This record gives sequence, structure tokens and C-alpha cells, in this order.
Amino acid sequence: MPLTDQTAAECRDLAARYPDGRSALLPMLHVVQSEEGMINSAAIEMCADVLGLTTAEVTAVATFYTMYRQKSPGGTHHIGVCTNTLCGLLGGDAVFAALSERLDVGSGETTPDGKFTLERIECQAACTHAPVMTVDWEYFDCTTIADAIRTIEALAADEMVVATRGPAVRGWRATERTVAGIDDGLADEARCVDAIMLAGLEVAKEKGMTAPDPGKGA
Ligand code: FES
Repeated sequence: MPLTDQTAAECRDLAARYPDGRSALLPMLHVVQSEEGMINSAAIEMCADVLGLTTAEVTAVATFYTMYRQKSPGGTHHIGVCTNTLCGLLGGDAVFAALSERLDVGSGETTPDGKFTLERIECQAACTHAPVMTVDWEYFDCTTIADAIRTIEALAADEMVVATRGPAVRGWRATERTVAGIDDGLADEARCVDAIMLAGLEVAKEKGMTAPDPGKGA
């Protein structure tokens, strides 16, 4: 099915943000994924057309990154469990196993009702709060099996679920638009900056460390 005029217009707007339009390909793919739930041939053709690329060039990019789905649309909610070394050792593997059993799907699979897509994910740069689970790419820090199951059950019942660092979970397709750089109006809803997150900054202050001037190079 062809993409909507609105999606094509948003992709053209994204391309116009960059000196070289092809820099917009990654966000454009997130926008089309928010509509289609995956990257299909219509999406690839539209992106190639807007950017003056070949469909082979767009396909090469779309198939390189794991955040783009190739085979089937993602579910209403994307559940990511970090099973990289630190999270895995501190409980991520157990959380993933429990969710896999509860939802009866493996990594990358979607439940038959289309509600959840479960995925093992790589380090989310949140190791201080391991093990980390994400719902629609919002962080759920220091997750236990009980927390994870409770979260899934609340989402299954269409209850409001708020991420550890805010905001309320809205659904994977909505987040795809945020990832693309389209303003979601939620910038002020971030919260829960705790002492662990600020530990590095405190050490830097104590030692009088400053960031190098980016204008002066390395
Ligand atoms: S290893 Fe899980 S966030 Fe880094």
C-alpha cells in the first residue's frame, strides 16, 4: 500500500533540515515505520525517490540497523530487555526469560494479538541502573522479574504505565516519530535524575574538570 501524503510530506520536511538531504534517511525510515510498522517496499521506494537514491542504497541502510523491522510489523508495544553483559549478569537474562515465557514469544517476535513485540537489546548506556528494560524505548530502570511482569499486565489491560524517567508510555509507533525528531511536546516530562546518574558530574566538579572547547579540536 502506498504511504500517506502526510508521511511523504514529513519525510520531505526532514530531508530539508540537512545540508545534504541523504543525512535524513535514518529519521525518514523511522517516520515510515511509524505508519507501516515496518520498512516495506513502498517505504523504500518513497525514501529513495525523496532523496534521489537507488532502492538498493536505501535497502542497504534499512537492513543494517536492528531498529528497523523487515519481515513483519511491530506490535503495539515494543518490550526491550538489555541482555548485554552487565544487565544480563544482574538479572536481564532472567527478566527476558520470564517475559518470553509469559508472552510465549522469542526475541524479535510479536504476540498473536499484536500487542507486544519482545526483543533482546544491546547496551542502552544506562548500565548504572542495570538491569534495564525499555517499553517503547522508554527506560524502566533496575527492573526485576516481578516489575517486568507487572508492567506487561498493566499494558495488556490498557492501563497507564509511566517509565522510570518519564513520560507515560504511548505506544511504539508514537515513539518512532519521536525518534525521527518530530516534536512530541514531552521534553519537560523527563524526571528522576538521581544521585547515581550525577555521580560522574560530581567527581568532575570536585576535580575541577571541564569539557574541552569543541572549537579547538583534539
Ligand atoms: S549493559 Fe544494559 S544498559 Fe548497559
